[in-house]
Amino acid sequence: MNSRSNTVKIAIVGGEGIGPEVTEQSHRILNWLSVRRGLPVALREAQYGLVPYLATGCPETKEVPSAARKAGSLLGLRRKYDLYANLRPIVASPVLAESAPLKAEVLDGVDFVIIRELTSGIYFGEPRGIEILPDGQRRGFNTEQYTSDQIRRVARAAFELARTRRNKVCSVDKANVLETSVVWRDEVTALHRAEFSDVELTHLYVDNAAMQIVREPRQFDVMVTGNMFGDILSDCAAMISGSLGMLPSASLGPVDEFGRRKALYEPVHGSAPDIAGRGIANPLGSILSVAMMLRLTLDRRKDADLLERAVALALERGARTADIAEPRAKTLSTVAMGDAVLATLEDISSKDEEGDQ
Ligand code: IPM
Ligand code: MG
Repeated sequence: MNSRSNTVKIAIVGGEGIGPEVTEQSHRILNWLSVRRGLPVALREAQYGLVPYLATGCPETKEVPSAARKAGSLLGLRRKYDLYANLRPIVASPVLAESAPLKAEVLDGVDFVIIRELTSGIYFGEPRGIEILPDGQRRGFNTEQYTSDQIRRVARAAFELARTRRNKVCSVDKANVLETSVVWRDEVTALHRAEFSDVELTHLYVDNAAMQIVREPRQFDVMVTGNMFGDILSDCAAMISGSLGMLPSASLGPVDEFGRRKALYEPVHGSAPDIAGRGIANPLGSILSVAMMLRLTLDRRKDADLLERAVALALERGARTADIAEPRAKTLSTVAMGDAVLATLEDISSKDEEGDQ
């Protein structure tokens, strides 16, 4: 946030693969919000990833915020800004039940959030590497590790979020096998006892959690887990919302002395090189990430609700990209899905304005 005004600076980073295609639709939504709803943002496009790397031999351009300069990838960006709390909401959309791979009665009413620890664990633990053994074999190795503080701060985020929802946290680990998980479970339990005993806390082993997500996902409200377990479980849970292309995320850093925190909003899906450049990717994961930004960084709850309603209405009216289409249904391009959401935004907001008068 700019110290002299309320304008929030947003860097729009398309990245690689389908990234620029879906992000462009979010950019259009942000422009609309800025013009039609007075959203006080300064938008700036920045490149990051393979495209500038191929062009210049350097993985970012000078448009990227300077602190990100030396960070070499998405993981570097997460780490550089200490974006430790990754929120991945999992909501079943009734209109997509047809195309979802799970049964409608399993999906009905599912609404939970996975909080994935994002800056530690096996993704970043040292030592790591590939070595050649004396007999000529290669040996790859990584280190899973968590400290008390790393566990407590993400668990705190989970308990605090649960208090704003249905007041339930499920912590996921593998404490029957891994020492990191023994520490994880102990720390979550101790924090719960000390500060959050009003919240209902349960623990699941990760293998069981994977099963429960497809068996009875309604039982979950907030699920908190480490970096790699969260990566895997969130793809699994994506099937509840119909497609990985539907899933938004927010990655939040520590709160600073002014009460602000750095944040990165991105769809959960990756760069999908197999469909890149074809204009068929689903932009809704990216667009719904804008709704998370409105709520969590910009404090614009009404605009967030408006955008989520617009996405839901576009889906109700039959807008489908290929990944969420019923068999033989007509499918929209990435841009046409952006158009559909912009059209429903216009519709809903002009109706709301009439209602206000
Ligand atoms: C995710 C992705 C990333 C991860 C990849 C692209 C490095 O799968 O955000 O879930 O593993 O964290
Ligand atoms: Mg993943």
